[in-house]
Amino acid sequence: MIKVSDILPIFLVGICAGFLSFSAQAEKPEIATPQKVEARNETFATPHPDQYQSWKTTSEQSERVDALAEDPRLVILWAGYPFAKDYNKPRGHAYALTDVRETLRTGAPKTAEDGPLPMACWSCKGPDVARVISEQGEEGYFHGKWARGGPEIVNNLGCADCHNTASAEFAAGKPALALSRPYAARAMKTIGKPFDHAGRFDQQSMVCGQCHVEYYFDGKDKAVKFPWDKGTTVDEMEAYYDDIAFSDWTNPLSKAPMVKAQHPEYETWRAGIHGKNNVTCIDCHMPKVQNAEGKIYTDHKIGNPFDKFEKTCATCHTQDKASLQEIVAKRKQDITEIKLKVEDQLVRAHFEAKAAWEAGATEAEMQPILMDIRHAQWRWDFAIASHGIHMHAPDVGLRVLGTALDQAAQARTKLARLLATKGISHEIPLPDISTKEKAQLALGMDMQQLNAEKQEFLKTIVPQWDEQARKAGRLSQ
Ligand code: HEC
Ligand code: HEC
Ligand code: HEC
Ligand code: HEC
Repeated sequence: MIKVSDILPIFLVGICAGFLSFSAQAEKPEIATPQKVEARNETFATPHPDQYQSWKTTSEQSERVDALAEDPRLVILWAGYPFAKDYNKPRGHAYALTDVRETLRTGAPKTAEDGPLPMACWSCKGPDVARVISEQGEEGYFHGKWARGGPEIVNNLGCADCHNTASAEFAAGKPALALSRPYAARAMKTIGKPFDHAGRFDQQSMVCGQCHVEYYFDGKDKAVKFPWDKGTTVDEMEAYYDDIAFSDWTNPLSKAPMVKAQHPEYETWRAGIHGKNNVTCIDCHMPKVQNAEGKIYTDHKIGNPFDKFEKTCATCHTQDKASLQEIVAKRKQDITEIKLKVEDQLVRAHFEAKAAWEAGATEAEMQPILMDIRHAQWRWDFAIASHGIHMHAPDVGLRVLGTALDQAAQARTKLARLLATKGISHEIPLPDISTKEKAQLALGMDMQQLNAEKQEFLKTIVPQWDEQARKAGRLSQ
């Protein structure tokens, strides 16, 4: 159990309201008055117009790219897991809420108790998460299914996700950065970076590291936890997951116990050359700019730093934009090349393992092979789910993918030997997975039904959520 002194001040708010109520700790009286977390971003439009207006324009990054259509191998690798249904690449912060509602991954719950996913799936989607935790504690927030949060988590990712909006400093136009998620505050402490003792630059990256990290759902309530107890490298997190025998799901083809990497950008950034030099996420993604009156403010249109080259890269580097872009593009190309090689190996490994089971392989024979597949795919996923890794830490990306390729090769070598002992020496044929639709069909997924249920959900349930939220005063309009 964490101690009051371990947590940054804004959290005392949340903690007092709930978390400490189930710990035996007595709280200090001076922090007993809960401050309300204001999740309605519009509240801050008038006091902070420059930040508000630039924040709003993250909606301009609206392009939706279907990652499964681009690369149908993903459907096979994530078979049996919600990501095989639907996965779009990230876009502007303004879409976080829309996208979690609209993705097939969250299903089409009809009641607050319907699955498939837990409350934790709202955790990186907006400031209402901070509000609910401040009102009900983490236990109150996490319990139950995702649909329970529908009428609660209604404001776009915004001010109170990164700022202590109730503080006098914020009112005075200072950043007052804060970790609005207590589980993130605990994780930062685990790696020796308690937020309230961290310097300004560390804090800048940490606010992004509340969401742009690897995490998993822990325990009965499926609460968010970062797997950082041993450290933040791919090897340390793998050892952590192995030690607690954690798996997100079992791939139904190979029956391997899989770990899905989320989006470990904070971890890969800190392992890269810029992170090591403490060049922060903000230096590149939120530069200082000038408004019409010449006043300096932080640009809140978080997007691609190359779009504001003069205010980002060029503040430290003398090369021109085209040459730096070329370097980054080349690195992306190199990473993509190895990534696809790993995917081809893994797709085959899953189908070869399936063939081995069908030929009568035993649990004991399969166990080491399934562990190789698990490790190979975790490593591959870690690299590809770290969006921007080709910029943030290309060396890390290539090494992680290299080790993934090695693990996949080990799995397939063992599989070839095992299959031979069962009298199978021919190549295991693959189904047609040349498009997303064909790959989903090969797994027997009924996409038509999933899509129809989703449309119905968006038409009937979601408007009810908004209506309830409006009545309860949780939305500005
Ligand atoms: C994703 C995190 C994030 C979100 C969301 C966010 N901010 Fe910020 N904000 C920052 C960071 C980082 C800084 C710069 C901190 C520094 O300079 O040390 C900042 C700085 C500020 C400042 C200090 C003055 C300045 O411009 O540097 C104000 C005021 C501010 N933000 C207001 C807002 C408002 C209003 C919203 C909501 C409309 C908002 N912020 C949303 C991260 C965020
Ligand atoms: C509360 C959680 C949260 C915080 C805090 C957060 N992000 Fe995000 N970020 C997201 C989510 C969710 C998405 C994907 C949105 C979508 O695709 O619907 C995203 C998307 C992005 C993207 C892709 C945007 C694009 O146009 O393609 C970038 C870049 C990004 N975030 C950077 C940052 C940086 C830098 C910070 C810290 C200043 C930060 N984020 C803080 C949750 C968060
Ligand atoms: C040295 C500059 C730099 C730093 C520091 C940096 N980034 Fe980036 N980041 C970039 C660039 C440039 C890109 C886009 C690369 C490209 O064009 O392919 C990017 C891409 C991303 C993306 C992927 C966007 C997408 O649509 O795929 C995310 C998410 C992201 N960064 C988050 C972060 C977070 C979080 C941090 C800090 C933990 C961080 N970045 C630190 C420069 C930086
Ligand atoms: C706040 C300063 C700062 C900003 C902003 C910054 N960099 Fe850097 N960059 C550094 C430092 C420091 C190094 C390490 C230099 C060294 O060790 O010699 C570095 C190294 C590099 C390298 C060479 C290291 C390698 O990976 O091989 C590249 C390429 C690079 N930066 C690209 C970029 C790009 C592109 C941007 C903008 C998206 C950017 N940087 C923004 C400070 C910065």
